[in-house]
Amino acid sequence: MSHYKIAVIEGDGIGREVVPEGLRVLEAAGRRYDATFSWKHFDWSCETYLRTGRMMPEDGLDRLRGFDAIYLGAVGYPGVPDHVSLWGLLIPIRRSFQQYVNLRPVRLLQGVESPVRGFPPGKIDFCIVRENNEGEYSEVGGRLNHNTNAEIALQETVFTRRGCDRIMRYAFDLARTRNHHVTSATKSNGIIHTMPFWDERFAAAARDFADVRADQYHIDILTAHFVRHPDWFDVVVGSNLFGDILSDLGAAIVGSIGLAPSANLNPEREYPSMFEPVHGSAPDIAGKGMANPIAQIWSGAMMLKHLGQLNAARAVEKALEALLAGSDVLTPDLGGKATTREVGEAVAQELARVPESE
Ligand code: NAI
Ligand code: MG
Repeated sequence: MSHYKIAVIEGDGIGREVVPEGLRVLEAAGRRYDATFSWKHFDWSCETYLRTGRMMPEDGLDRLRGFDAIYLGAVGYPGVPDHVSLWGLLIPIRRSFQQYVNLRPVRLLQGVESPVRGFPPGKIDFCIVRENNEGEYSEVGGRLNHNTNAEIALQETVFTRRGCDRIMRYAFDLARTRNHHVTSATKSNGIIHTMPFWDERFAAAARDFADVRADQYHIDILTAHFVRHPDWFDVVVGSNLFGDILSDLGAAIVGSIGLAPSANLNPEREYPSMFEPVHGSAPDIAGKGMANPIAQIWSGAMMLKHLGQLNAARAVEKALEALLAGSDVLTPDLGGKATTREVGEAVAQELARVPESE
């Protein structure tokens, strides 16, 4: 019997609706695979910010440090500027805990129709490896001459050799466990300092992994290839901004943003890693019970895998596939009428039934 201590942050909006379903399925997986969890809930959100002036307490990071993993819903809500909620919670966790890999699988599951014609399940299966600690999302910059005609806003991109090398190494290592192909997202024609540097570090990494095919595209045509040729990709490595944008596009080509999971990984395991869906708090549908919990549940499977519970992780994925392929218990984003909770319960039931992984 293994036991895990998990920090749970539901956050805002639909985070509060999908996280309970994620926990329901993780509990079901634990029952079947002899794992137990203690969930410690942290009520950190935009509501907390409006009450206390902080997204999380001053010692918030210290409180999270000792957990085996962090399971997060989404943060951000109208009434608090998005840069305040993001920089008050999510970004400090990702950076302080050196979660420099944001791993975002893009896989078309059985039973889901891609809006891109001609690609059945199995044909779209790749991973986006997004640099998660530096790049375009930096605090370097500033504003001058507020409220005058001479107003200036400056924002600096920060690429370090260490930051580039470690994310690229992760991408190539991952490709070795898959189809031995890494594609880099660049824009070294337009962005003349940081992106040529990114390309140099990519070329250096590629030399160390001669058994892995390496190619690169400028981000503009790469977005077109995601739609026209999603079967071209195995592992796609991108900077913080490019990886962020590509992952919503990736989610769209495999059916719904409500299906896309992600992991914020500290590969060295010096700090807890964090598991959350790609989507945000979806204020437009919050409180209606219609959010798709599958991205949150699948993120839970990624957490199980990270914790070493490989069979349990595989079983959750199989349960998701069984539900999508064989039932009409689907939320409206997938054309169904089911509620968030009904989907969570159906996945938990499937989980008890799926055959043992070989
Ligand atoms: P969003 O991902 O929350 O929503 C985009 C669209 O997708 C909306 O129409 C929404 O209804 C739909 N959608 C999202 N998740 C869904 C699900 N599980 N099931 C069905 N439909 C779903 O992105 P948006 O609208 O740009 O941001 C809303 C808030 O979330 C903002 O405050 C933003 O800063 C925050 N955000 C937080 C993130 C995080 O916590 N990691 C990531 C992205 C946005
Ligand atoms: Mg995003």
